[in-house]
Amino acid sequence: MANVTFSGLTLPKDITVYAVAGDTGTLLAVAKQNNVPIPFQCQDGECGSCLVKVTVLGDNPPMASALTEKEKVTLSVNGKLDKATLYAAETNDMPPAYRLACQYVVRSEDILVEFTGEPGVE
Ligand code: FES
Repeated sequence: MANVTFSGLTLPKDITVYAVAGDTGTLLAVAKQNNVPIPFQCQDGECGSCLVKVTVLGDNPPMASALTEKEKVTLSVNGKLDKATLYAAETNDMPPAYRLACQYVVRSEDILVEFTGEPGVE
């Protein structure tokens, strides 16, 4: 069970939902189920429209959250994932701040998800 709090310029106030890890799929799926208007197009990690900033909340260290190959490429092309951040993610399990909602799988940890409502702009 995880609390997922969405914060966006297009929302009148933050929305916190309870997501069951492994049962909900991607962060974009959780957003859609709860009518949170994160922009999206391809839903396949290629367009970058669903760019969000994810912050792990609480005192526990963040859980490792693997990036898909498409997510690595798309974030890198859009200047949201440099080599040092990717290295830290792959070797030290330090999740990067910027993610693609259609690729990020919700885990059993509380997170804050920030988005602007403009496609590809966090
Ligand atoms: Fe295209 Fe997520 S919707 S990358």
